[in-house]
Order: sequence, then C-alpha cells, then structure tokens
Amino acid sequence: MQHNPSLPVDPDRLLAIAQKWGTPTYVYMESMIRERCQMLKRLFPDLPVSWLYAVKANDNPHIIRIISGEGFGFDTVSYEEVLLCLKLGTGPKQIFYTENNMTDAEMQGAAKEGVTLNIGSLGRLRAFCEAYPGSECSIRIKPDISDGHHAKVDTGNQDSKFGIRLDLIPEAVRVAGEHGVRIRGIHAHIGSGIQEPENILAEIEVLLKSSAGLDDLAFINFGGGIPIPYRHDETPFDLDRFAHLASKRLKAFLEANNRPVSFFFEPGRWIVGPAGILLTQVNTVKDQGRKLFLGTDTGFNHLLRPALYEAYHEVVNISADAHGTSQTYHIAGNICESGDMLGLDRALPESKPGDYLAIRDTGAYGMTMASQYNRRALPAEVLITAEGYHKTIRSRKTPAETVNDLLKETGLAAAQKSETS
Ligand code: LLP
Repeated sequence: MQHNPSLPVDPDRLLAIAQKWGTPTYVYMESMIRERCQMLKRLFPDLPVSWLYAVKANDNPHIIRIISGEGFGFDTVSYEEVLLCLKLGTGPKQIFYTENNMTDAEMQGAAKEGVTLNIGSLGRLRAFCEAYPGSECSIRIKPDISDGHHAKVDTGNQDSKFGIRLDLIPEAVRVAGEHGVRIRGIHAHIGSGIQEPENILAEIEVLLKSSAGLDDLAFINFGGGIPIPYRHDETPFDLDRFAHLASKRLKAFLEANNRPVSFFFEPGRWIVGPAGILLTQVNTVKDQGRKLFLGTDTGFNHLLRPALYEAYHEVVNISADAHGTSQTYHIAGNICESGDMLGLDRALPESKPGDYLAIRDTGAYGMTMASQYNRRALPAEVLITAEGYHKTIRSRKTPAETVNDLLKETGLAAAQKSETS
C-alpha cells in the first residue's frame, strides 16, 4: 500500500498505535521535540540567550520533563502551571510567571515559591510592591505591535489587554522605586504564530529602547510566537535569518550599554506543534447532497483550533492507499454543533468507516485546549520515545469512568449509588 509521504511518522506505526490504544489519541514524537529544542539552542551561539518553553502549548508532564531535560526553563501563565513545573523538579529560578489578571492569592503563592513574577498592569505592580517591598520582579509592556495568526492571538496591539502601556513605564519605575522593588526584567509578547518576522525585530527594538530607564535590569524577554507551517506549501519561518538579524542588534545593544543583560525567548508551538498527531477513526460516510462528510470519533472538544481560529490542520487517511481514487470531503467531528468541522473540502483517498485519520501538527494547543464538552472523555496520549518505544503518557477514561467522575466531583456519587442499589 502506498501512503501519503507527508507524515513525519511511518503511517504503519500510527496505525499500530491507533489499533492498540484506540482513538482519539494524541501521539507525540520525543526525538522531534528534543531535536527542535537543540536547534533553538544553537541559534545564538555567542550571546547570553536562554530559552523558556511556553507550558500552555502542551503541559503533559512527560513532555515538560523532556523539554526540561534539554535545558529549557519555563514560561508559565497561571499559578497552576507554576506548581506543575515545580512539582516536576524545576527550580523556581527557571520559572517565569507572566501574570494576567492574577488574584492576590495567586500572587502570594508565586512570591512564596520564589519564581520570577512578570507583572502586566500598574495596579498589580502597586499591589506587589506594597506586599513585597525590597523584592524583585519583571514587567510586561504593551509594545503596540500587532501580529499573530489570528486576531484572537494578537497580543501586542494597541488595544490589547496585555502589558503596561509604554507611556506608563516611568510610572512603573517610580512605583517600584518607592518601595525599593528592583525591576530586573522587561518582557513583551506580540502574538502567537507570528506572520511578519520584521515585527519581532520591531518588538526587540521597542524592548531595548524601553529598557533604558530600568537601572536594575538583568534580562529582556522577547516572548514567544515563532510560527510553524500548517499547509504543505507554506514557507517555514526562516529562523537562521531571524537569529542573524536579531544577533546583530543584540550584540550592538550589549556593546553600547556595557551592562550584564541576558535575553530570553519563550516559544511553545514551534517546539511541540509539529511533533504531535491526533489519531481519529472514521465511523460515518454521509452524502448530504452537495457535501460529502466523513464523521469521526473526535471533534472540537479535542482539537479546538479549526473551530476557534479557522485553523488549518492537514488530515491524512492512514488506512487508505494515498494514490487511489480521491474524493472531496468535509471532515466532521462528533460534537453536537454544526461548527464542529476539522477540515473543509479536503481531497482524500476514498475513505470508509473504520479508516484511521491522522491530523497533523497538533502537538501545540491541541490537548491543552481540549474539554469534555458533550461529556466525552479526553483523548489518550502516547509518546513515541527517543528509543522508539510506545508509551502511554495519559490514558483515556471509559464512558462509565467519565460519568462516574462527574458524579463524584459534583457530590452525587453516593446518591447515584443508593438510588441504583
Ligand atoms: N509567551 C506568552 C506570554 C504567550 O502568551 C504565549 C502564547 C507564548 C509565549 C507562546 O506562544 P507560541 O510560541 O506558542 O506561539 N491557542 C492559540 C495560541 C495562543 C497562544 C497564547 N500565548 C493557538 O492554538 O494558536
């Protein structure tokens, strides 16, 4: 049988996993994650650049451990993510917590743990300074640069909720100074899935310029957002060119300033996105007159990106001969909403119930954005280890377990038992 050659994993291996673990199942490739971490670490050989992995892209503890093993620290955005990284053995100094409408309790928790707190509003900075005079923090600014693969993930534009306004930086410095708080870092993140590399360079410029008034500065964090190609004809982001241009600018900055400042980047998608595949099984083929549908056993509860951002993920039928007769299909999920489409007008080899589909590039923002909508269980997760073994890194609950868990969490497990006994 001839298969679609575009998959990063041998389709027979994927078929074996789908048959053994059932579907829906996310599959991740450890060696690809490691290689991508190593590629990033080679980009700035003669600059003090460190890498933080954006945990929100994929927070499976096994994945976090792999990335930690490659010498990455972590970009976290909730107290829960902070605790997760700490519990997995990462030291607090390797954890950067970018707050966003953080509560007092979360602030106290993070401060107690000793992670670097990156503060994104003047109000929160004041509260932090009052609570922890004489301490240290970082500030997130709003650079007024717009980017991201979709308006919903454009974080640096003028109307964004994130970061401290540029004109308020002097006020931030004043507030910190009043309480003896040292602003050790400055940070921005312009968006996820950056479309124009020039925009990151512009953001770097804004951060370098904004750092001028920060006397205690130890680091500058340029955020994440490195994109990946989702369509086979998309040109990948030219990392080498970006690193070349950024290096030139950062070296000039260090020379001109003569102070020991280090730099951070915090990518998520670029590291894990291409290393993940969602496996699903076709159970229905349905001709609706004008559209031919393939119905699958997953949906936007497990992969939200197509429904939320109209994101494109390549879908490959790994059971069918890639060179057989082709058909154009809408690939539908099993969620009770008409927006639950995983792909529109896709040319696939003639497919039938029982076939397995591989949905590509789903290692980032796949499982972390999954829900139990329609009360369905979450997918299983399987890791293809660097040694080539298949390892369960999250098991799928059965329908009965899923329902029992709900009853337990809502305090009705006992009632349900006594009603049925
Ligand atoms: N740093 C900060 C402060 C962020 O907010 C994010 C992403 C990152 C780093 C990592 O960005 P990345 O390198 O992964 O692009 N759910 C959306 C993506 C939302 C990203 C939110 N912040 C999606 O599926 O496209």
